[in-house]
Amino acid sequence: MRIGDLKVVAIGGSLRERSFTYQALEYAAGLLSGLGCRVRVFDLRVMRLPFCNGDNQDPRLDYPAVGELRRSVGEAHALVLATPEYHGGLSGVLKNALDLLGAEQLEGKVAGSISVLGGTTDSNALNDVCRILRSCHSWVIPHHIAIGRPDKVFVDGRISDAGLRIRFEEFAQDLVRSAVRLCSPDRPAIESDGPPLNGSASAEFRCAGA
Ligand SMILES: Cc1cc2nc3c(=O)[nH]c(=O)nc-3n(C[C@H](O)[C@H](O)[C@H](O)COP(=O)(O)O)c2cc1C
Repeated sequence: MRIGDLKVVAIGGSLRERSFTYQALEYAAGLLSGLGCRVRVFDLRVMRLPFCNGDNQDPRLDYPAVGELRRSVGEAHALVLATPEYHGGLSGVLKNALDLLGAEQLEGKVAGSISVLGGTTDSNALNDVCRILRSCHSWVIPHHIAIGRPDKVFVDGRISDAGLRIRFEEFAQDLVRSAVRLCSPDRPAIESDGPPLNGSASAEFRCAGA
């Protein structure tokens, strides 16, 4: 798989107009585009998404954005999810968007997550996102980014902290490297002398959307 073939969907979980979460997401999206990926950013502030009604077979025809989200995530190889930390967890906005999706769209996707929080940096929201992605059988990359005190970090639309800029670059490179490896249609088969492998761990593992 060539980097130019990689489709990445980036979703932000804040509805705030001057959201730092979107500043972080756009920064990551810019780096991924710079590496050659095809990146689409979903801005939930302007999309009309309903609450999940518990029926993922429901096409929600009154809300065309649901079909668009499901289709784009289904076709993507990789995801970037960015969330503000709310009350020690991910935002309800991002959780609802993920609830409108399912394993049908998320299985096999390579995913990286970013959190932004008003206090000092922690991993609470990131751990939530990681657990959700794991339960939908996505591949979560080792690099993640938590940004505390974003008012000090984002200055005039720029990231003031050189160490954080490097972390973003490593994050983008890790996402691309992992997606190229895991989503290649020509991944080598797993040879085994033991009993046949089956299920999603089989040698025939298919990357959804590839
Ligand atoms: C309902 C709510 C809950 C929050 N809970 C936390 C929290 O638990 N920890 C924290 O450090 N900041 C918390 N914050 C602050 C936000 O994480 C912070 O303002 C962040 O920048 C918001 O993201 P945004 O700029 O993308 O809107 C909370 C903010 C709101 C509105």
